[in-house]
Amino acid sequence: MIVEHLELRNFRNYDSAKISFMPGLNVLFGANGQGKTNLLEGLFFLSCARSFRVSEDRQMIQDDKDAAKLSVRVRNDDREQILSGVIYPSQKTLSVNKRPVAKLSEFVGLLNTVLFSPLDMELFHQAPRYCRRFVDQELSKVSRDYLESLRSYNGVLKERNLVLKGEHVDMVYLSVLNTRFVQAMWPVVTGRRKFISELNALLPDHYQKLTGEKHEVQLRYRPGFVWVQNAAELEKQVEKNVQRDLTMHQSVSGAHKDDLEILLDQHPADGYGSQGQKRMLMLALKLSLCSWIEAKSQKKPVLLFDDVFSELDFRHQQQLLNCLPEGVQTLITTTDDSALREYSLPCRRFVIHEGTIEEKNGG
Ligand SMILES: Nc1ncnc2c1ncn2[C@@H]1O[C@H](COP(=O)(O)OP(=O)(O)OP(=O)(O)O)[C@@H](O)[C@H]1O
Ligand SMILES: [Mg+2]
Repeated sequence: MIVEHLELRNFRNYDSAKISFMPGLNVLFGANGQGKTNLLEGLFFLSCARSFRVSEDRQMIQDDKDAAKLSVRVRNDDREQILSGVIYPSQKTLSVNKRPVAKLSEFVGLLNTVLFSPLDMELFHQAPRYCRRFVDQELSKVSRDYLESLRSYNGVLKERNLVLKGEHVDMVYLSVLNTRFVQAMWPVVTGRRKFISELNALLPDHYQKLTGEKHEVQLRYRPGFVWVQNAAELEKQVEKNVQRDLTMHQSVSGAHKDDLEILLDQHPADGYGSQGQKRMLMLALKLSLCSWIEAKSQKKPVLLFDDVFSELDFRHQQQLLNCLPEGVQTLITTTDDSALREYSLPCRRFVIHEGTIEEKNGG
């Protein structure tokens, strides 16, 4: 999958900007606050129909403007598609080849990206909600079934919690809900468990190649309930815990309490690894994800690497460049492009300055 051409209008600090990328490495270079992350955010929006750093779309509209417009031409083998979006203060419209789509699911994933953002380092700080979002977001990209299961789980969870909050609980209805709760939860938790185990099969290799060091790296799935072998046993567990849930007026355990731990040499990486090691570990995770998506969808995603070089020493910056997967289009933003001096493959460089983009030759 190749992003060929991007256009932004009234988006963040871009009045009107156009940029054409090449298939391999593209470097967006510029000082702080010039619009590098904004540009990746624009592409991410055209991939996932939302921002990766703000929850309100309206924040992406340029100050004092009514709407932001974005459009990208994407090539997938021999097929070209134009994906576009218009963001208004309280709604957005999304189109494929100029035809508006009716549902988000018809748009999300047409441009498949793997993003590294410094915000991802939050994954280490044991914020379970963030970990679940990471897993859900990636799984949903390749599996509509998973997305459906997740939606249905969230729906039943909401309904069950509402019932548990009530003063007079209809126990017959609660029992029906328990069954539905388990039916919806089982595909979610088995999907997450399988995903994490598949990533674990890829991660050590990527980490070793990136760092040249032999550390043990591993993701650990921590279910928000006592793990069981099948849905029938899970239902027994839910029934057994009904009294506790009634007392607490909420579903105390379940997939909504799942967590993910990242281990370095069998310790939680957060309090054990150095800043640089954690960054390399997160990058190895993103590269594993890239391989995983390619294996699942037979398509190479586009890598969006925001500010990847900070906290890495010169050698690690170069190692990262050498480990970029072949044939995968990669966009890197940086304030310091010195590591690229010895990069031997062709790449395209751009200078970003106050919301303008200029191609810089030589590279
Ligand atoms: N809605 C908006 N309208 C206009 N300008 C905005 C808007 N949102 C953010 N900006 C501006 O965008 C700039 C930040 O851009 P961005 O985050 O892309 O910087 P950057 O080049 O990635 O910098 P750094 O190297 O520090 O990460 C800021 O100057 C900010 O004022
Ligand atoms: Mg930035």
